[in-house]
Amino acid sequence: MEAIGRDWTVDVVFQDRPLGLGHAVGCAAGVVRGEAFAVLLPDEIMGAPTLLDRMTSVCRDTGGGVVGLLRVPPAEVSAYGVIEPTGPEDDGVVPVGGLIEKPAPADAPSDLIVIGRYVLTVDVFDRIAGLSPGAGGELQLTDALREQASDGPFHGVLCEVDRWDTGNPLGFALAAVDLGLRDPVIGPALAEHLRALG
Ligand code: G1P
Repeated sequence: MEAIGRDWTVDVVFQDRPLGLGHAVGCAAGVVRGEAFAVLLPDEIMGAPTLLDRMTSVCRDTGGGVVGLLRVPPAEVSAYGVIEPTGPEDDGVVPVGGLIEKPAPADAPSDLIVIGRYVLTVDVFDRIAGLSPGAGGELQLTDALREQASDGPFHGVLCEVDRWDTGNPLGFALAAVDLGLRDPVIGPALAEHLRALG
């Protein structure tokens, strides 16, 4: 944090209408200066920064966008973007030919969901500018990424670190308990409380 203002500058942009994740990312078009950039959805918490590091190097190596992936039971896919792999996983990297936002389990092209980490190339802003409302009536980032994936290199990297999705009530509770237990200040008292619950 001390580096902000010295080594870093921070630009803040506001999305003044709730038109969807694609629209939100598009609002940053004016401050992303020509380089690949990361999108981190803050309702997903990762236990370590290694996933984003790996995604960044895959983007450098391939020149295409990269999403963070997790394999989930089929019943869970309809809450997420889901990728269509075009080949086998190689050392945790999966080639992606398409993506679909919140499919019914029967329509899902795989059991690999997009977790809230993206390393994207700037041409995504042109795709976002051309979006029409998609799933839920929103301008979906997933729809812009599907166009990129069908036109050029696009990959996913399987997440191998702990991950909590606080965007649903159970995930929120699990994150509070798991991370609370790891905290040196509140961990012991929380563990004691949980033991007392039986
Ligand atoms: C968003 C994305 C979805 C992605 C998810 C990850 O959905 O649209 O593709 O899988 O984040 O958390 P939201 O959580 O906003 O419904």
